[in-house]
Amino acid sequence: MAKLAGLAPPGLDRVFLCNSGSEAVEAALKLARLTTGRPRFVSAHQGFHGRTLGALSATHNPLYRDGFGPLVDGFSFVPYNDFGRMEPAVDSQTAGVILEVVQGEGGVHVGRGDYLRGVEELCRERGALLILDEVQTGFCRTGRMFALERHGLRPDLVCVAKSIAGGLPMGAVFCSSRMQVPQGKHGTTFGGNPLSCAAGIAALDFMVSADLAGEAERKGRRLLARLETIDSGRIRKIRGVGLMVGIELRERCRPYLDRLAAEGVLALPAGPNVIRLLPPLTIGEEDLDRVADALERVLAA
Ligand SMILES: Cc1ncc(COP(=O)(O)O)c(C=O)c1O
Repeated sequence: MAKLAGLAPPGLDRVFLCNSGSEAVEAALKLARLTTGRPRFVSAHQGFHGRTLGALSATHNPLYRDGFGPLVDGFSFVPYNDFGRMEPAVDSQTAGVILEVVQGEGGVHVGRGDYLRGVEELCRERGALLILDEVQTGFCRTGRMFALERHGLRPDLVCVAKSIAGGLPMGAVFCSSRMQVPQGKHGTTFGGNPLSCAAGIAALDFMVSADLAGEAERKGRRLLARLETIDSGRIRKIRGVGLMVGIELRERCRPYLDRLAAEGVLALPAGPNVIRLLPPLTIGEEDLDRVADALERVLAA
């Protein structure tokens, strides 16, 4: 807990420990309703926040939602990176706006600094809370400990999980002391269990001592520069920050993912057309070059 608090985003001096990203999002949504006394949330098209009912209700894509209704009431969706559409959506009933700093599952869409700062300002003006979901971007992935640092953001709540404990189940919500939670109002049996905490302490120590944020920044630049040299009509756009990279194709990506796997490169899709590269932050430069070479080959075939 102390170790995490030492790394917390500025102004967020409290931490709630749980077991996954979805649980962190659930906790943030509940805290936002409890703190503001308001019912509604705004989130973004292509956003992904998890598969439990609250987190799923904040997730836009019908692929994940359909068949599980009725979902939690009170969620509306606006296009990402479009302040003009966000502005009228936030009103006196809005408890919070929940956004990723870089949308991962939805296609690796990088949030613009002016947009995210504008949303932060809007939330402050209208009494809503800004919840940043850094489950995928947190802990050095984008070249900073948290992606919000790239834009100097000051959210009210930040959800993290995934690499926090180096592969053991753990999630957390950072929040300010403004979030007052009466004893017993929210909790979870295994949140902060000794095994995950020991792994978390070791993982956080390693991230800092090995400067994984710096590594992700440097290697991400190298990977993006190399990918930009690939001359293929199949590529529509390459997006990314740090070691979170998406290659949007003009066609379905699944066959290319299979061919990459046959070459020893495991990549995931982010939507039907985007090949997503999330290499380990410790990857060697030679391996990074192998990934780019393999991609060039499978796209040329
Ligand atoms: C941005 C984001 N939020 C939340 C989640 C859900 O995390 P978990 O799978 O640990 O519940 C994910 C998982 O991919 C995610 O990428």
